[in-house]
Amino acid sequence: MRKKPHGAAVPMIAVHRKGEKPLHRQIYDAFRAMILERRLQPGQQIPSTRALADELGISRIPVLGAYAQLLAEGYIESRSGAGTFVTSSLSDQFLSARPAVASVVNDAAPDAISRVSKLLPLEGTPWFLGSGAFSVGQIAYDHFPFRVWSDLVTYHARRVRASSMNYADPMGSLEFREVIAAYLRTARAVNCDSSQIMVVNGSQHALDLSARVLLDPDSPVWIEEPGYVFLRHTLMLSGCRLVPVPVDCEGLDVAAGVKLCRNARAAYVTPSHQYPLGATMSAARRLQLLEWAHSSSAWIVEDDYDSEYRYESMPVASMQGLDPGSRVIYIGTFSKTLFPSLRLGYMVIPPALVSRFLAVRQTNDLCPSHLYQAALADFISGGHFTRHVRKTRQLYAERRNALAQALRKEFGSEIDRSEMEILGAEAGMHLVVTLPSGLSDQKISARAAEEGLWLWPLSAAYAGAKVRQGFILGFGGTKADEMLHQVRRLRKAMRNESGYRGRA
Ligand SMILES: Cc1ncc(COP(=O)(O)O)c(C=O)c1O
Repeated sequence: MRKKPHGAAVPMIAVHRKGEKPLHRQIYDAFRAMILERRLQPGQQIPSTRALADELGISRIPVLGAYAQLLAEGYIESRSGAGTFVTSSLSDQFLSARPAVASVVNDAAPDAISRVSKLLPLEGTPWFLGSGAFSVGQIAYDHFPFRVWSDLVTYHARRVRASSMNYADPMGSLEFREVIAAYLRTARAVNCDSSQIMVVNGSQHALDLSARVLLDPDSPVWIEEPGYVFLRHTLMLSGCRLVPVPVDCEGLDVAAGVKLCRNARAAYVTPSHQYPLGATMSAARRLQLLEWAHSSSAWIVEDDYDSEYRYESMPVASMQGLDPGSRVIYIGTFSKTLFPSLRLGYMVIPPALVSRFLAVRQTNDLCPSHLYQAALADFISGGHFTRHVRKTRQLYAERRNALAQALRKEFGSEIDRSEMEILGAEAGMHLVVTLPSGLSDQKISARAAEEGLWLWPLSAAYAGAKVRQGFILGFGGTKADEMLHQVRRLRKAMRNESGYRGRA
């Protein structure tokens, strides 16, 4: 007969003897989640190893292993003669830094329908819908070299051959891939040749493919917190477990990631320009992340979405180029440098994974369309791409300066008193302005959208607790001399929605 446990109540833990995870890991994960979610409170007694083993009907060895790990990591403490307890000194700060993780980690919904229903309904997030002042991702359309571009598109559209009309290589056209590989080796210090390049329909497509190839339902995955909402959705759909890892001024906090979940299967990062807060990942952090990936056999997905635009220094080299062991999947896009509706991007795949990506792509959309690949290959080889990036870098620097100045002019005293902050203006095509406490960025954004002003709320970029309120402001599509006017409209939207008068 099984002995009844006494003393501490035995928490509900489901263990699967034939599960993929070893028993000690299942027990460890269950306790850790219960502690982080406060279902087990600091100071609360937990059952003895013998009682738990009895209750679960398993040997004591895996329970001892799990408890040893929880002890070593400081989640539990043993008091001689009294038993084992959830560490009482786990501060509120420790716990409150993590509810986001716990809740999101548990968010891995069991079936596809409930996963889909968790995606943001677009009608509830009107700021994603429009294009105009401050819309993130908007480019300077009026400065695009349409004449050259349309000549190339027309030329290739008229040059009809069987090879341009048939199903083609799922990796993309060889000529285009060679041009991309040469560009990436030179401009982004990416270690690659054309056999590793896959042409995709923008980086969102690449993020989705990477999730399909690399992740199992339930795989833990590090994402940046705050981070890119449409990456989060892709991963949520895959059924993996999101582990939001905080970012600071050096990018993703790798040590925090290791503490939260050492065994994550992959880390999705934007090291050149963290989205949305704008940090550039420091060299020390890059090496730390690579070291973690190698030691845990994890993958790093490097989303290099806007690195061509850097204003105070040269563009920083890719992280992929630092990786001696092919653990990085590198993703880039022409959405920022050319225009987003082009839907052309690329990924650089480690050689060992190429055939898997190829197989998944074939089930996904067979192959990329021919026409724009051919036109863009010529556009790049003819030097137009480099020229356009150089020109727009200058232009976006002016727009960025104009936006920062306008924000200072309108919100100067709040910025001086540190109630508001401008973040991440050194690179890319957006910056972040944080809000004084008490204001709701989502309410203001919804009101502003009714007036044709597209403010992406910073709080929506958080998977867990909405740590900061603010706006992600795209400046690429707004002329420098209109910036002050648009910032005044922003201030008006703040006043209309929340009665905000500010101090200026
Ligand atoms: C961080 C990040 N990743 C990926 C993308 C998606 O870009 P694409 O248009 O190439 O799908 C964006 C678009 O703004 C982005 O900000």
